Amino acid sequence: MSLKSINPTQTSAWKNLQHHFESIKDEHMVSWFNADSDRASKMNIKCEDFSLDFSKNRITPQTLKLLKDLAEEIQLDDAISKYFDGEKINKTEGRAVLHTALRAPEDAEVFYEGNNVIPEIYEVKNKIRQFSQEVIEGGRKGFTNKAFTDIVNIGIGGSDLGPAMVVDALSYYKNHLNVHFVSNVDGDHVNEVLKKLNPETTLFVIVSKTFTTQETLSNATTIKQWFLQHATQDDIAKQFVAVSTNIEKVKAFGIDPQNIFPMWDWVGGRFSLWSAVGLSISLAVGFEHFDALLKGAHKMDIHFKEEKFEQNIPMILAFLSIWYNNFFKAESEAIIPYTQYLNQFATYLQQAIMESNGKSIDRAGNKVNYQTGNLIWGEPGTNSQHAFFQLIHQGTKLIPADFIGFAQSLHGNQDHQDKLMSNFFAQTEALLNGKTKAEVLAEDTAEAIVPYKIFDGNKPTNTIFINQLTPESLGKLIAMYEHKIFVQGVVWNVFSYDQFGVELGKQLAGKILKEFSQDSLAQHDTSTANLIAMYKSMR
Ligand code: F6P
Repeated sequence: MSLKSINPTQTSAWKNLQHHFESIKDEHMVSWFNADSDRASKMNIKCEDFSLDFSKNRITPQTLKLLKDLAEEIQLDDAISKYFDGEKINKTEGRAVLHTALRAPEDAEVFYEGNNVIPEIYEVKNKIRQFSQEVIEGGRKGFTNKAFTDIVNIGIGGSDLGPAMVVDALSYYKNHLNVHFVSNVDGDHVNEVLKKLNPETTLFVIVSKTFTTQETLSNATTIKQWFLQHATQDDIAKQFVAVSTNIEKVKAFGIDPQNIFPMWDWVGGRFSLWSAVGLSISLAVGFEHFDALLKGAHKMDIHFKEEKFEQNIPMILAFLSIWYNNFFKAESEAIIPYTQYLNQFATYLQQAIMESNGKSIDRAGNKVNYQTGNLIWGEPGTNSQHAFFQLIHQGTKLIPADFIGFAQSLHGNQDHQDKLMSNFFAQTEALLNGKTKAEVLAEDTAEAIVPYKIFDGNKPTNTIFINQLTPESLGKLIAMYEHKIFVQGVVWNVFSYDQFGVELGKQLAGKILKEFSQDSLAQHDTSTANLIAMYKSMR
């Protein structure tokens, strides 16, 4: 059964929220903190070593009550059951959405079309475990009998961003293998990576759910040709493996069937790092750490499935985001991790969030007349403080931001950690309180400069505070955003798990590519025609 189609703006909760918004939109959060000394402890949720402080938001207890009413009216509970139970909630592609099953324990039962999928998931997990161990320990060797030193993940979108982000995020836990990622069809990308490689000691992992993606197949073909300059066709079996649902196409590419790690159509590309798509993660940090990542995600799954609204981290984050997007008309959200390890986190979330909820047709097939989707951007602190924080503090736009921080650093340099965390706390405090005219004047500021030094404050932030960046806590963090995406899609009444919006450009690129070697051009608008003609004369 598919998800119900309920227009959120037609619910009475939405109308009540609109009224409520009008009454509190100009209030300053500081007044709420002053009026209730327990506000911070009331608006705080813990999930083991993981906590969310959402008190620095432009909400009152009444806002939360109305958002909860909205959750009830759009029947969120029903949607959550369908999500976890393998219903085909990705209706436009006729698929279930079961990435949660990938991290379920071995004794769990998750049924899809009448079959328990857990045994096949564990079969592939065992294959990942064994393969990673052999490569890491050097038992599995290349065509000249040398142990592997380098791994290249060839994929794009969900077949690249998730593994690339996690491998980078967990670099503290890494072994001796150098892991590279080739994604862009830009030939300079693959060539720059090849420059660093020895064909005798490099293992290539081709990751493509469909095995039809132009970028991945072009890069895989270029790499295969490069490899064959040094080795024979038979050697491919020793150094190329693939992750895909499309077994026939993988075989046609020349990969040994033994070297195929299957995945399933009920795993969406952007939610696939928990499947064999995460093979390069397991190779980089070892299967035990990969498994801990999955265990962390499973803990967040349980939290999301079982906690009531007020205590549910992904749910609260999702509804806060709707509050800003649809009532305050905020245009974007920033993700600011205070760790350099999460350098690629916002980029990863851009696909997960924007490819999922960047939709404008509702589940009944009608154009929506309200905002969906979030523009996501961000960079680690403190670097971002010296880049775009000026606009968040004193610009005209409202930018709700998630601050993600860790109590303990990994290398244990306490001096640096204290400096980092003092900035982490200072920024959300500054965004909340701002700086008044009286405070500026008290600093002996020249009269003409005073207005420029005032900070309005009242800028919303969430503080996600975690003990330490470990595979497990990272798993929780990623799963938290996955569930936030799900909830938002349910409320906005869109289909979050298809991605037809990426198709049109692909189709046109295919046509234009052919025109580069033809004398005449097909019908284009004059701008595009001029640009193609210019390229043809310059290439
Ligand atoms: O960008 C569109 C998309 O289909 C993504 O959803 C997907 O993650 C990516 O392309 C790669 O697809 P594949 O794994 O099939 O190569």
